[in-house]
Amino acid sequence: MVLKWGGFSFGLVIGVSFILSISEVCNGGITSTFVRNKDLANDMPLDSDVFKVPPGYNAPQQVHITQGDYLGKGVIISWVTPDEPGSNLVHYWAENSKVKSSAESIVLTYKYYNYTSGYIHHCTIKDLKYDTKYYYEVGIGNSSRQFWFRTPPEVGPDLPYTFGLIGDLGQTHDSNRTLTHYELNPTKGQTILFVGDLSYADAYPNHDNTRWDTWGRFIERIAAYQPWIWTAGNHEIDFLPDIGEDIPFKPYIHRYHVPYKASGSTSPLWYSIKRASAHIIVLSSYSAFGMYTPQYKWLQAEFEKVNRTETPWLVVLMHSPFYSSYVHHYMEGETMRVMYESFFVEYKVDVVFAGHVHAYERSERISNIAYNVVNGLCTPVRDPSAPVYITIGDGGNLEGLVTEMTEPQPSYSAYREASFGHGIFDIKNRTHAYFGWHRNQDGYAVEADSLWLHNRYWSVSEESYVA
Ligand SMILES: *[C@@H]1O[C@H](CO)[C@@H](O)[C@H](O)[C@H]1NC(C)=O
Ligand SMILES: *[C@@H]1O[C@H](CO)[C@@H](O)[C@H](O)[C@H]1NC(C)=O
Ligand SMILES: *[C@@H]1O[C@H](CO)[C@@H](O)[C@H](O)[C@H]1NC(C)=O
Ligand SMILES: *[C@@H]1O[C@H](CO)[C@@H](O)[C@H](O)[C@H]1NC(C)=O
Ligand SMILES: *[C@@H]1O[C@H](CO)[C@@H](O)[C@H](O)[C@H]1NC(C)=O
Ligand SMILES: [Fe+2]
Repeated sequence: MVLKWGGFSFGLVIGVSFILSISEVCNGGITSTFVRNKDLANDMPLDSDVFKVPPGYNAPQQVHITQGDYLGKGVIISWVTPDEPGSNLVHYWAENSKVKSSAESIVLTYKYYNYTSGYIHHCTIKDLKYDTKYYYEVGIGNSSRQFWFRTPPEVGPDLPYTFGLIGDLGQTHDSNRTLTHYELNPTKGQTILFVGDLSYADAYPNHDNTRWDTWGRFIERIAAYQPWIWTAGNHEIDFLPDIGEDIPFKPYIHRYHVPYKASGSTSPLWYSIKRASAHIIVLSSYSAFGMYTPQYKWLQAEFEKVNRTETPWLVVLMHSPFYSSYVHHYMEGETMRVMYESFFVEYKVDVVFAGHVHAYERSERISNIAYNVVNGLCTPVRDPSAPVYITIGDGGNLEGLVTEMTEPQPSYSAYREASFGHGIFDIKNRTHAYFGWHRNQDGYAVEADSLWLHNRYWSVSEESYVA
């Protein structure tokens, strides 16, 4: 169930080069010929600075936040205390306000084989003021810790808002570079859309869950200050019946809470939120999605609820891509594509972000929904109502990059390159958003691929073009 690919086969392309040369392949778009660094594909050692336990008895660690309601007035603050439950209170106050409020967390623990988790706290705070900086504090006395976040503006059509895109992160030196490049990008992301595969703890014997803890400490430097919108990937399944672990997604669901009930979902694995000018739908590639399933029925109802006058930008996140021209994981998203692609076209989804394939790829606006069992129409065609599909599974985990591509490049594939990096989805107004892909080896401001996205509902122009 948990897919691992042939171990540590790196060094296909060796040596440092910052030459950006691009070649055209006759049938399709661009296959980059960028010569990248060798992967640094080992996990960072346990004594690395990024995994340091904060000082003080029972000090809160692995602090992370996500949106806590449907509209962005709520936040879920989560943290782990290692020794005892400790305080379940979050103290919070708006910047320039003397009034401190407090909210209570729930506390839970779980066991996985011979691992017992620390005390995992989740505190949902609702009815915050929009577009306001809040400070918050968790823990007690000299081991208490303070952080801050900024709420989004009230949902509305012309709000600029900047999302970061990260997928398949893991905890290698490359993962650390991805976070560093995101932090130092001059275009400041305000919220991360995370497309699945978090810690890769399942690469260890018995899925050693202490690697879930190290990962939580690793991402804290960003995740405590801005929300990460979570999508579950295959490395979250942690299904290992041989050692008695037969509840799929157990560590993930205990550690990463999402506001799924607010969007009428019955599972944390699929849900949606509205944030500023975007309606973001999160799907689960590894849960039932066929006709009549809970996910299918929920998605159908959710698309009906999308109001493009309120949220012009309609974004879908999933782990396994519908369109990928890499050899590895080829067509794994096909069964879900068959079920859901016609919704995406009917409701004019602007962009679909996926991970899973450890590389970058961007599609043209295409659809492949004409086919039925007798007509033979099984080739993707240009479709102005279709989303752009972006694979961004290039966060930098211990499995390394996938380099083998199907040849020739299919015509639906606009740009593909196997390098680590992150994306920035920068909404300007109801008609225009800019997407940039930042490769880890470049300077912080450099974009290796970019594109103006014209809103599918509001734009007069039918074309997306490369900037
Ligand atoms: C990770 O990146 C941060 C920020 O660039 C740096 O301070 C830290 O030393 C890095 N840690 C490792 C283990 O590479
Ligand atoms: C769990 O079991 C493994 C071997 O099966 C062992 O190496 C490890 O130390 C054990 N961990 C705990 C917390 O007992
Ligand atoms: C932190 O507080 C505890 C309990 O009040 C006390 O025992 C300990 O000495 C303090 N540690 C430091 C470094 O101040
Ligand atoms: C869509 O949102 C707009 C702006 O908030 C609102 O005026 C309109 O009534 C909404 N439409 C529906 C069908 O709810
Ligand atoms: C929307 O943003 C684009 C890109 O920044 C800009 O060219 C356009 O004029 C803006 N539209 C409006 C109505 O402001
Ligand atoms: Fe994956």
